[in-house]
Amino acid sequence: MKVTKLALAIIGGCAISMSASAGGKVDKSVSNMTGADATMLSNTCAGCHGTDGASSGPAIPSLGGMSALYITDMMNGYKSGDIKSTIMGRIAPGYSEDEIDAMANYFAGTEQHRTPQAFDKAKAAKGMKLHDKYCEKCHSESGTLAEDDSGILAGQPTPYLHYSMEDFANGDRSMPKKMKKKVKKLNKKEGSAGMEAILNYYASQK
Ligand code: HEC
Ligand code: HEC
Repeated sequence: MKVTKLALAIIGGCAISMSASAGGKVDKSVSNMTGADATMLSNTCAGCHGTDGASSGPAIPSLGGMSALYITDMMNGYKSGDIKSTIMGRIAPGYSEDEIDAMANYFAGTEQHRTPQAFDKAKAAKGMKLHDKYCEKCHSESGTLAEDDSGILAGQPTPYLHYSMEDFANGDRSMPKKMKKKVKKLNKKEGSAGMEAILNYYASQK
């Protein structure tokens, strides 16, 4: 376990979302698994990631509407240990390639979720401009375009995005080279207030 604070946040989040989790409803077939199989598998993720990937936990990302490729890449990274994590490294190895594929497609077919959360208006306004300058290229349409295969930033729980940036910074997860360049430039020009403004912007997206 890495961060006690994160572990607590996760447990808190799961307690909330577990009581709220119920069956999903996508019936398309993926690889050699049926839609019912995919739904059943994906329901085991709902305790933490919420029904249809709409997270209610502060440290848990919403999976709804992410690209299947991004989800698959993350699952494979957790499975191989290339991406360090608090929880997923113990969950991902339990699934085969076909199962990961089926779940990834299931979540890709659900709606994106914007977590309702507090944000600072002035910071969010500044963050929007900084996002356009430093991040939009690969997190386009304001961090909402699944086809970029770079996750969904709009409306993700802010604590989760903080942890992601920390993981990148300390090497628990390798940061794409060109993103690293932009983040470095942002830090140089704006200090830590720059990233804070950007995260306020993502928090402001409804
Ligand atoms: C016990 C809680 C828990 C369960 C159950 C769980 N997850 Fe996670 N998931 C997390 C947490 C916490 C993270 C953030 C990484 C970490 O620290 O483990 C995460 C991250 C992820 C990510 C990365 C998303 C991103 O934005 O980069 C994917 C993909 C994912 N989980 C898929 C799944 C799938 C598929 C299942 C079901 C098989 C599942 N998870 C079950 C807690 C959980
Ligand atoms: C050159 C392309 C590029 C640029 C520029 C870029 N990113 Fe990224 N970003 C990516 C890719 C690709 C990923 C997925 C990485 C992975 O698979 O681990 C990612 C992942 C992320 C994640 C993790 C999402 C999650 O769900 O865990 C965050 C947070 C993030 N970027 C924030 C930013 C911010 C903020 C900026 C601007 C300061 C930025 N990125 C600029 C390509 C980029």
